[in-house]
Amino acid sequence: MSNQSSAKRATFSGRLGYVLTTAGSAVGLGNIWRFPYLAAKYGGGIFLLVYLILVLTFGYTLIISETAIGRMTRKSPISAFAHFGKGAGYRFGGWINAVIPMIIGPYYCVIGGWVVRYLAGYIGGGVQALAGDNFFSEFIANGVSVEGWFLVFAICTVVVIFFGVQKGVEKVSRVMMPALVVLAIVVAIYSVTRPGALAGVKYFLIPDMKHFSWMTVVSALGQMFYSLSCAMGILITYGSYMEKDVSIEKSTSEVELFDTGIAILAGLMIIPAVFAFSGDSAADNLQAGPSLMFITMPKIFGSMGLGTAIGIAFFLLVFFAALTSAVSLAETCASTFEDELHMSRKMATLIVTVLYIGLGTLSSLGFNVLSGVTILGMDFLDFFDFLSNSIMMPIAAITTCILVLRSVTIDGITAEVTLGGAPFKRKKIYTFILKYLSILFLAVILGSSVLNVLGVIHM
Ligand code: PFF
Repeated sequence: MSNQSSAKRATFSGRLGYVLTTAGSAVGLGNIWRFPYLAAKYGGGIFLLVYLILVLTFGYTLIISETAIGRMTRKSPISAFAHFGKGAGYRFGGWINAVIPMIIGPYYCVIGGWVVRYLAGYIGGGVQALAGDNFFSEFIANGVSVEGWFLVFAICTVVVIFFGVQKGVEKVSRVMMPALVVLAIVVAIYSVTRPGALAGVKYFLIPDMKHFSWMTVVSALGQMFYSLSCAMGILITYGSYMEKDVSIEKSTSEVELFDTGIAILAGLMIIPAVFAFSGDSAADNLQAGPSLMFITMPKIFGSMGLGTAIGIAFFLLVFFAALTSAVSLAETCASTFEDELHMSRKMATLIVTVLYIGLGTLSSLGFNVLSGVTILGMDFLDFFDFLSNSIMMPIAAITTCILVLRSVTIDGITAEVTLGGAPFKRKKIYTFILKYLSILFLAVILGSSVLNVLGVIHM
């Protein structure tokens, strides 16, 4: 590491800036779109319990490791790995962490575009049109429309990173994250107080062993990764912008709390509403999976009083969540281009824009113009999602765990975490998980995902 580059590196303005920006990265479509449908599908309260345990143990271990590596080296993933050794393994570990956000970012912006489309629809007073049976399928079948909304969202994202760490990324999170919390509380209160909603609250919050299965653990583990933005270079990059006097453990706990709190609020917004507004078909609607947010929720908004206002509030908060996450993905890519190719911020932003528009266009046209093209039976968006989340992220996390165990060492991490007398209260859990469970767990998720796509098991 050169001291010169570490002196010049951008930083967050302080602990609050770091926590809000990292929470901004963590809280995203994963919390509001993915978490509720997985919780609904894989056991309600028991899924929530397993998820919480995993966040506090395994998720904690990964966040601490990545953040400490970033702050120690003051580098984005490729150089951060190279800092510890020159072998092929180090290069592979760095690259895989750096490439993941380049694959996820573009398709994430396509879904962000759908969110903007719905938000615009509610603002325009189209609550009944959005609730129509075929609205979503007709929308994504229209290539020009999907591409246009994708570009709106992608341009918002790259404009933010163009302004840099403090003036762009941090500023947006400082405004949007508190607004998101307020909106989420308002919508959740509205939802849980509807007649008939209590059954949903109970299903979501009270663990019941009869809904437990092995898939509860596997899906909760996958979701934990996704939601905490682990294993994709983001936390290494954000750690590299963190000041030395900020406590890594305290900020990590706050990010965990923020991310899990919003996921629980999202569950409380969506699951009770499904019970309250879909009567006998509640059980079917809970199994809706990915379409829960874009098909089931608009139907619910269409059938209730205040549907337009709640629809606007809901999609506005999803937009804030998605934008701050998309920004973190794009920022990680820009940082890699700056560090590895010695580019200016302007040039790095331009390259990110070209990459995002290119790959994102494949995803947005995959449902219409390019619908005849499939990879392993998947459209482009599903394929990019599968490749990144199910295959590359577990491998990236394994490389990080090996890096810590072999090169950084637990003592090295401890020294960084406890710098200036900062606490490391969960060090025993950290050490235990890292040494004995992490690689095994990660191999299990990877194996399950592969078996699932081969049709051997069904997740
Ligand atoms: N953690 C964020 C979310 O939950 O939406 C952002 C994110 C990044 C999600 C990367 C998924 C992902 F693969």
